[in-house]
Amino acid sequence: SPEGTRPESPEGTRTTPVTVRVPAKVNVQLAVGAARPDGFHDLANVFLAVSLFDEVTATPADALTVTCEGPDADKVPLDRTNLAARAAEILAARAGLDPLVHLHIAKHIPVAGGMAGGSADGAAALLACDTLWGLNTPREELLDICAELGSDVPFSLVGGAALGTGRGEVLTPVTAGSFHWVFAVADGGLSTPAVFREFDRLTADAAVPEPQASPALLAALASGDPEALAATLANDLQPAALSLRPSLRATLDAGAAAGALAALVSGSGPTTAFLVADEEAAAKVAAALDASGTCRATRTASSPAPGATVLPS
Ligand code: C5P
Repeated sequence: SPEGTRPESPEGTRTTPVTVRVPAKVNVQLAVGAARPDGFHDLANVFLAVSLFDEVTATPADALTVTCEGPDADKVPLDRTNLAARAAEILAARAGLDPLVHLHIAKHIPVAGGMAGGSADGAAALLACDTLWGLNTPREELLDICAELGSDVPFSLVGGAALGTGRGEVLTPVTAGSFHWVFAVADGGLSTPAVFREFDRLTADAAVPEPQASPALLAALASGDPEALAATLANDLQPAALSLRPSLRATLDAGAAAGALAALVSGSGPTTAFLVADEEAAAKVAAALDASGTCRATRTASSPAPGATVLPS
């Protein structure tokens, strides 16, 4: 039926599409503890949202469907394993509704890249459906649903900069100055569980300490001084990602040689992240990485970026 005239719409339900913009993340510190009995790892995970965004549009429909556009759209699952679809299902079930929504994902965040692209779409779909269905679910409940969807999903909702503890889902906001980044997108993805399993294998004979947020890193993050932050960046998953994808070493080296202040694997990879002094340095490092033949594509971005946000219609 035409927009605005659906007689069956429950009160509060919008009939016009709702679009939510949601950022990617980079982990400036990812301290990983030993595997827990439930298979997850305790983390001290300092998340930083960066200005690479997906957009999820929710439109009333006769059934739950997902479509995707963007250069890597063919790598995005469109079934119920997509966190956007799962978010709609969980929210609808809580509200006693049928998830009669079409979710369209405009995909710019690298897929299976260690930048929480799938988590971002879950958080965005949750907020879009909550708005479309006029539910006004309290923020705390939305965060609970996010945590049910995945360890990184709560951060995608809140954005900015935060310390994640537990399996990464318990968030404390932290202060962050502004920074500039280059990201190198690798060919193919890496499976997060596989990278954690490789971490377990590589640390099997070592005593893995309790993960702790680094005071020096938090101070550098707050200061906005890129040299100070560069000296403190740390990712405990990097050896595991490099072990599964040794070719990432050449990408890290190419970015460092081009003048990046620091080079590291983003989260579980295989995207690599390069901290640079300013926008000009970002353009230079991105051009050098593009010319190096060690990655598939590059993106430049700044941080921090806001969390999931409903766009004006
Ligand atoms: O929470 P999420 O579903 O995103 O986690 C995906 C997988 O990553 C988990 O099944 C687990 O293998 C691994 N993981 C972990 N410890 C964490 C977060 C994720 O081992 N803190």
